Amino acid sequence: MTTNKVSGVPRRELLKLSGAAATAYAAGPLLSACGGAAAGPVKAGVLLPYSGIYAVLGESITEAMKMYLDEIGNEAGGRKIELITEDTEMTPDVAQQKARKLIEQDEVDLVAGIVSTGVLYGTRDYFDASKKLLICANAGGNKISRDMKTPYIWRASFTNWQPNWPLGSWAYENVAQKVFMSAPDYGAGHNMVDAFANSFQAAGGEILGTQFTPFPAMGDPAPFITEIQGADPPMVFCFYSGGAAVTFVKAYGEFGLSGNIPLVCAGFTVEEDVLPAQGEAALGAQSGLHWALLLDNAVNKKFTAGYKERAGKDANVFAVQGYDTGRVVAELLNAVQGDTSDVNKMIDVMPGISFDSPRGPFQLDAKSQNPTQHIYVRRVEDVGGALHNVVIEDLGAFTDPGDDSLG
Ligand code: PHB
Repeated sequence: MTTNKVSGVPRRELLKLSGAAATAYAAGPLLSACGGAAAGPVKAGVLLPYSGIYAVLGESITEAMKMYLDEIGNEAGGRKIELITEDTEMTPDVAQQKARKLIEQDEVDLVAGIVSTGVLYGTRDYFDASKKLLICANAGGNKISRDMKTPYIWRASFTNWQPNWPLGSWAYENVAQKVFMSAPDYGAGHNMVDAFANSFQAAGGEILGTQFTPFPAMGDPAPFITEIQGADPPMVFCFYSGGAAVTFVKAYGEFGLSGNIPLVCAGFTVEEDVLPAQGEAALGAQSGLHWALLLDNAVNKKFTAGYKERAGKDANVFAVQGYDTGRVVAELLNAVQGDTSDVNKMIDVMPGISFDSPRGPFQLDAKSQNPTQHIYVRRVEDVGGALHNVVIEDLGAFTDPGDDSLG
């Protein structure tokens, strides 16, 4: 296809535009580089689940991303920012169709979102082949920072290794030396137990058993809780999220395990989005995560108050990631002065992005293409009549190792 040398826009697209408009379009990246508005709005595609067990995650990310963009007047690098949202459901095939629609029909400048590791792995090759930048707002699949890395996928979220590896040795020192593990049978579930097990065993801990439950729908949790009861462990480690976290933790309470067998988990399992539905069953659960509602820093105080006013409920870690995804998009656009015509230029500025997030210091790591961030140990406590995660320890800053050497 013949392309215009100045703009890289296909010539037949330019021919559809007349006189002055065509000149402005062709010169768009140049004008925008000088802060001009002639390039029009930046179109950001948003791929998230708005149905299925992770629907609340998708809604929280969207709401807080909009909140951040509203705070900056929906403008960065001299251009307005427009969001086009699509429901990925829970299926890689649907997500891929929606990614195609955003990139090929809507001609978005970049894409943000994706909650499930399965969906991230299933769309990775498409982003790689179409050379479009994806800013991942949740899915933590380790491989995207390791053997499935592509220059086109960066994360504003976490790797599944991050909250769990520091927690394994902490749990050995502070809770028990033997564990039974439970997680959904898909990429993220396996990543989370592998990371926890790696540091727990290195510290001298023993794994009594591991169960993987059906995903996305767990079905009846009774057989899984019964299996845990039978193993009679001094501690359980688990990862669940969204609807599955409510099912698992409620059953843990109903079978009398809560308060008797200490629950240590990836923080998503008892996050603020699910705590109200889990109730007393979650009390005392200790978890590792890169944020907590009551984390004491100025950015978090402003964020949690603003989100509560806007959404009518407490923030959760997914909202933080949505907020930070909005910030990463804005920082990126500022760094390239609104010029989205050259994806390599956008990729080049990514490792320079760092800021104070509600989670604490956030810095994109060039190797893992994922933030370096602090991991906190939290405990579910009754705070003034409502259950929340209270920070009991800051384990320090962690960067994904970029390979499988530590789980
Ligand atoms: C994932 O699939 O990577 C995932 C999903 C939900 C979470 C965390 C990770 O809460």
